Amino acid sequence: MQIANSMAFLGEESAFEVLAKAKALEAQGVDMIHMEIGEPDFDTPEFIKEAAIKALAEGNTHYTATKGIPEVREVFANYICETRKIPVSKTDIVITPGAKPIIFFSLLATINPGDEVIYPDPGFPTYKSVIEYLGAKAVPLPLREDNAFRFNHEDLWRLANEKTKMIVLNSPQNPTGGVLTEHDLVVISEVAREFDCWVLSDEVYSTIVYDGWRHRSIVGLPGMRERTIIVEGHSKRYAMTGWRLGYGVMPEGLASHVTRLANNAVSCTAAFTQLAGKAAYEGSQDCVADLCREFQERRDLIIAGLNSIDHVSCIKPDGAFYAFANIREFGWTSRDIEMYLLQEANVAALAGTGFGKYGEGYIRFSYACSQETIEKAIERMKTALANLPQLESFRQPYYAS
Ligand SMILES: Cc1ncc(COP(=O)(O)O)c(C=O)c1O
Repeated sequence: MQIANSMAFLGEESAFEVLAKAKALEAQGVDMIHMEIGEPDFDTPEFIKEAAIKALAEGNTHYTATKGIPEVREVFANYICETRKIPVSKTDIVITPGAKPIIFFSLLATINPGDEVIYPDPGFPTYKSVIEYLGAKAVPLPLREDNAFRFNHEDLWRLANEKTKMIVLNSPQNPTGGVLTEHDLVVISEVAREFDCWVLSDEVYSTIVYDGWRHRSIVGLPGMRERTIIVEGHSKRYAMTGWRLGYGVMPEGLASHVTRLANNAVSCTAAFTQLAGKAAYEGSQDCVADLCREFQERRDLIIAGLNSIDHVSCIKPDGAFYAFANIREFGWTSRDIEMYLLQEANVAALAGTGFGKYGEGYIRFSYACSQETIEKAIERMKTALANLPQLESFRQPYYAS
């Protein structure tokens, strides 16, 4: 079978791989706790579902304009105007099935082989995967625990050069829960202007911030509107992961290219999904506040729990719904601990290295599950980790196949 050489560079999210392993164990009767996948366990709010049902009943079951239905884009544009305090018109919005295609299409539309793209490490795996797929150089910007998983400003200045065509940022961040400060954003904007490059600002967790933190977008800083692509979507804030609804906000000149890519790849996003997404923004936002409040309680519970386990420590994340726990003291790799927790504690969580080499020594727990489940997971892990065998004797049965 002949496969394109470029396929060797395209990676995959490890969350889906671990989910498959966890499901296989469940099929054998194991009671598994799922903390691997990044999706809210809440149901999509009723008023959004009702809007979709109404849209279907009214016959919205056909193709739409590739960019999205004009009145839906209008509402999305208004939302961005209000929340990011910048002028945006519907011509700057491209709607896609989920936020992920915006990452893919934006890179496709702006990056040439040999270009350099700076991306956060640990970070959402799609960035590196697509950058390398395009034959560009993926330049990791380390996020370190001692800096609350924010980047070091000198690192960014050192890594940027005239070949840098894009800086990817993600705040609040997956997998660390870190949130960038205003000063961090100013530094990124200075580097972007100095080297005349794009900024891909992944803001899909913008409404999930805690302890009075307010989401800030780089797009409002001087000189950034014309070089920023905001990645937004409904998956996380409205628990709509399965609906596939996301969008990008970008200069109109780029939007036309991203639209052409979407036209060739997906034609358009489902009409009733778009209309449900419009209703989501027009309705009461209590559901977003409720979701955030519940996540904050879960965060406090899981952080206290993780820190009560011997040799595990975890700093308090300011946003998103992930805890990125330090497991270095065990002397095992993240991958071994991931496997051990899956097999021995029946807790599915992700090795930090699934998010890049700077994730070694960490495990990501998605706390998109009930408080009761979090408590159960902590108890199971406490017992399993207290009985950690010799690494080699653990590895033999599990890695042999
Ligand atoms: C940082 C980040 N960006 C983008 C996405 C993709 O979201 P969507 O479901 O809208 O494609 C995710 C999903 O986990 C994410 O964590």
